[in-house]
Amino acid sequence: MAERIYLLDTTLRDGEQSPGVSLNSHEKLEIALQLARMGVDVIEAGFPVISRGDFEGVRMIAEKVKGPVIAGLARATKGDIDAAWRAIKVAENPRIHTFLATSDIHLKYKLQKSREQVLQQAEEAVRYAKQYVSDVEFSAEDASRSDFDYLCQVVERVIDAGATVVNLPDTVGYAVPEEFGDFIRRIMERVPNMHRAILSVHCHNDLGLAVANSLAAVKNGAKQVEGTINGIGERAGNASLEEFIMTLYTRRSIYQKELNIDYREIYRTSRMVSSITGMAIQPNKAVVGKNAFAHESGIHQDGVLKERTTYEIMSPELIGLPKSNLVLGKHSGRHAFNEKLKELGFSLNEEELNRAFQRFKDLADKKKEVTDHDIEALVKDEIWVIPERFKLQYLHFTGGSTVVPTATVGLVGAKGLVEEAACGDGPVEAACNAIDRITGLPGSLVEYKLNAVTGGKDAQGEVVVKVAVGNLKVLGRGLSTDVIEASVKAYINAINKAAYEISKPDQVGGVVDLNGNDDNRKNLG
Ligand code: KIV
Ligand code: ZN
Repeated sequence: MAERIYLLDTTLRDGEQSPGVSLNSHEKLEIALQLARMGVDVIEAGFPVISRGDFEGVRMIAEKVKGPVIAGLARATKGDIDAAWRAIKVAENPRIHTFLATSDIHLKYKLQKSREQVLQQAEEAVRYAKQYVSDVEFSAEDASRSDFDYLCQVVERVIDAGATVVNLPDTVGYAVPEEFGDFIRRIMERVPNMHRAILSVHCHNDLGLAVANSLAAVKNGAKQVEGTINGIGERAGNASLEEFIMTLYTRRSIYQKELNIDYREIYRTSRMVSSITGMAIQPNKAVVGKNAFAHESGIHQDGVLKERTTYEIMSPELIGLPKSNLVLGKHSGRHAFNEKLKELGFSLNEEELNRAFQRFKDLADKKKEVTDHDIEALVKDEIWVIPERFKLQYLHFTGGSTVVPTATVGLVGAKGLVEEAACGDGPVEAACNAIDRITGLPGSLVEYKLNAVTGGKDAQGEVVVKVAVGNLKVLGRGLSTDVIEASVKAYINAINKAAYEISKPDQVGGVVDLNGNDDNRKNLG
């Protein structure tokens, strides 16, 4: 029988470290539920000590997601490990994942510690985590650039201390496949107690080789592979799980490995991650890109019509690619809408469903065809269950090349309807200035992205903004067939999130400075 390979999905941890991505706990939960449906073995749900948001997200996933192991990341310190344990302890199958760098370059410049000190710290961290839980993963950060003999020593010691999984990351994406495969084979041969733990790899994509390196590692004895959906992650990202999965499947005669994956969930998972994170998938992306199964040239079209395998090595049905993206219209009922949501992988409660259905009806009145993409964009708003401290009642604006842009905004808050008017460089800035006057929480726009959800003149505009309120940075999203209204909604959404974050009590236990410094992502791989 083919040997089993375990998949650790770190979309919610390393993936969430992608520049510009920041998810709230409800969004993380939605993705985690879908990852569980797809059948990943381990969900790395976050880095609990790093921020209150991460802690809450991990705790919520640990409580609600059944099936996969739920891992929380921790540096090799007691404080980090305590926080990780507090967040994951309610999980059916909890895992603490602790890490420490082992390369000389990290030891010298980042940690300023000797090899002996790091060896001891790694061992102590694993022993400490082991007091809480039997499943402990240790990662030797920057393993691929570490001194080989020293790395072997670290691996042996952490296994003796009780590590059940030892992960060897190519943290900076420096390795190439032949070299990385050879590295894994030598580790397997050299470390005497390696058979007592699972050897894992975690490859970054700086040279575009993350999936190739992961495959080479599997060929040489690695049993767990870590990656993210759509390959999102730090810098150039992580190994794309869907590419790894489909290579193992499509070339199974070479690899002869088994996965516990429901392949039909791959496309849905990819779409959901893209729509919730706001990270678009490049059209030519392998496996899940819009063009991955599109045949443009006449010769190819002719070939595929005669026999699909002439130009297709995978079947689009296998990964769950819907045959047609055209869906509902204004005559569609609640039942059909709900079925569509299920098909797209969303599970809304009754209240969310009612709200989403109402918004779908409003949209269907304005737009002839409501596509899957429209519905995803719309539902995404419903799972952002941040209390709406300020709600848009109305928006008026004037603009043009010869007048000073002005906007009047009415927001409903605790004091009822409050109205303000302001000017700005454009109608969006004018409206944001008016909103700042009402909320008393002045924000500055750090990033602004506008996407057309679908094609056509009646397309919905989706605006994603990053807003700084003091030291706090929050993402906001707004959707409308009018782009100014979408921008204003996105800004209000961000301000509501900031108001919510500022008012929440600290649940981490004082480990992180949350008063405005909620982004503690230093020293991460
Ligand atoms: O890339 C890396 O080294 C990491 C570790 C924390 C596992 O993400
Ligand atoms: Zn990483």
